[in-house]
Amino acid sequence: MQPHSLPVPAPDGFATEICAGLTRPGQKELPSKYLYDEIGSALFETICVLPEYGLTRADVRLLHRHAPEIVSRLPLPVTVAELGTGSGRKTRWLLEALARRRPSCYCPIEISRSALAMCRRELGDIEAISIVGYEGEYLEGLAQVAARRRDGEHLLVLFLGSTIGNFERPAAVEFLCEVRRTLRAGDSLLLGTDLEKPVSQLLAAYDDPLGITAAFNLNLLARINRELDADFELTRFRHLARYNPVARSIEMHLRSTCRQTVTLHAAGLRLALDKDETIWTESCHKYAAGEVSLLAAQAGFRCEAQWLDQEWPFAESLLMAE
Ligand code: TRP
Repeated sequence: MQPHSLPVPAPDGFATEICAGLTRPGQKELPSKYLYDEIGSALFETICVLPEYGLTRADVRLLHRHAPEIVSRLPLPVTVAELGTGSGRKTRWLLEALARRRPSCYCPIEISRSALAMCRRELGDIEAISIVGYEGEYLEGLAQVAARRRDGEHLLVLFLGSTIGNFERPAAVEFLCEVRRTLRAGDSLLLGTDLEKPVSQLLAAYDDPLGITAAFNLNLLARINRELDADFELTRFRHLARYNPVARSIEMHLRSTCRQTVTLHAAGLRLALDKDETIWTESCHKYAAGEVSLLAAQAGFRCEAQWLDQEWPFAESLLMAE
């Protein structure tokens, strides 16, 4: 079935990317960065405290426990740039440890305005840390931070919470190469990666019994309804999380429960979906601890140190730009 276009005005960036994903030949898809509008960001904060989703707690435990050591390994002075902060809560320990050594600047880079506001509220009280936020995409924000740094100042890039896992493996290397290009030798990257664990545990983490993850995923359709005057009927879609053993990833989809047609009025798109056809929204790749330094090496980083959480296998790796 072919989607066809309606004669409506030229769409903006959001509309363009949504339409491109929905009209792709083969698997339809939606860019996962659009999951995080105000409602999506709030739902994601709830996911982070679900008992089944141990990832954020592991990330926080490692940062809390090892912040002084992480900071002691950095060349100072340093400006901290964070790619995708969410609420910013887990960054507090690191910034406090840094502030004890030296007043520093923290630059959160966020596509979500509401997350950026949350982050300012959360971290604004740390003395000796000044916050300069960037609303935008990771690499654009990072280029701006790098362009504004003073002579002799190092950069520490934080890429926490295993967002790197949302890239296909080759794209993850490519992304780290792009990050490396904006850095100088001696700068560093603190990278969080969720590690492989039993499939049953992963499936529970991405399809919780309360249905928060399902709501988070479905909210993307609700957002398209709100922003592009579309008519997705949410009860005709189901959240689907499945493990792909070849990619070693959890794939998230929205499954159409019937044959149906949806119209995105503001984007001029009419879309046909078959029964059980899915729209792919995100994949979360899982890593082996030893894989991280190989990944890093391919992008021009040396793994300086790595900390592992035992309770929920997760790695924090400090990578130095060579
Ligand atoms: N991408 C993040 C992760 O790998 C966040 C996330 C958690 C997520 N649950 C999700 C993204 C469900 C899309 C759908 O954990």
